[in-house]
Amino acid sequence: AATFGAAAQEYPSKDKTVTIVVPFAAGGPTDRVARDLAEALRKPLGANVVVDNTAGAGSSIGAARVARAAPDGYTLLLNHIGMSTMPALYRKLAFSVPNDFEYLGMVNDVPMTLIARPTMAANNYKELSAWLAQNKGKINLGNAGLGSASHLCGLMFQSAVQIDMTPVPYKGTAPAITDLIGGQIDLLCDQTTNTSGQIEAKKVKAYAVTTQKRLTTPLLKDLPTLAESGLKNFEVTIWHGLYGPKGTPPDIAKKINDALKVALKDPDFIKKQEGLGAVVVTDKRVEPAEHKKFVAAEIDKWTAVIKAAGTYAD
Ligand code: MLT
Repeated sequence: AATFGAAAQEYPSKDKTVTIVVPFAAGGPTDRVARDLAEALRKPLGANVVVDNTAGAGSSIGAARVARAAPDGYTLLLNHIGMSTMPALYRKLAFSVPNDFEYLGMVNDVPMTLIARPTMAANNYKELSAWLAQNKGKINLGNAGLGSASHLCGLMFQSAVQIDMTPVPYKGTAPAITDLIGGQIDLLCDQTTNTSGQIEAKKVKAYAVTTQKRLTTPLLKDLPTLAESGLKNFEVTIWHGLYGPKGTPPDIAKKINDALKVALKDPDFIKKQEGLGAVVVTDKRVEPAEHKKFVAAEIDKWTAVIKAAGTYAD
């Protein structure tokens, strides 16, 4: 029998665009993942997938845009660990995590690097920590806003070395790294998807990675971990996931998740991501239910870390 009323629109329809909202400035690590993913999603999803940046307030403005978007599969969010740090940092979020989103699967895990302006004299972590001790009260540490990955890493770093630094927030770590290269700020903890190229071009000085084990990518394999440099339990890796507004119809959510699974096996996507030190998800976190469970557990984990580091923001 014919479906009465508005026939169920086939998803995705040819004349509509699927927008992946990136909650940080263009050109940064989140944007990098989103643009590579958008390209890999086009064919399996059978849609024109584009990226649109809505930056500010450590990803909470972009996340709010998607939380209130029509739940029709045409407005998605690519975000990272910030989904699990915002609840502890913002008392007045326009949405709640984990409940106000549809979980569409996780994408990758990205290590971070501790880097400094090119004029920093220190040539290794030991010399850098001496410089930190001598410059207490005068250190500018960039980040991408409260709740961003760079903010979280910076929080953990200050807490580990017991030295307060002046946070300098940007709309993403693309503008932050530009200022670092220009010497306007001293330090930045940022993802390898954004720093690998700058390290290779010697535009910044790199001191350590934030993973428990050293990286294997040729460019970064000689960088010590912060853990082996004396900050024993230091470990932060930035995971990324894909989200839709709560109430996205299950058949649409499934089509997007199915397309994501194909994209994550796309050799070109994997090559691009691994070339930047990222590790594409191959485990069960690609399943929406596991994705949701993982984010809920991460909220508890990072809330404890943030409370221990003692920083809150309204
Ligand atoms: C972050 O620090 O959360 C991200 O690296 C910001 C960005 O993607 O620009």
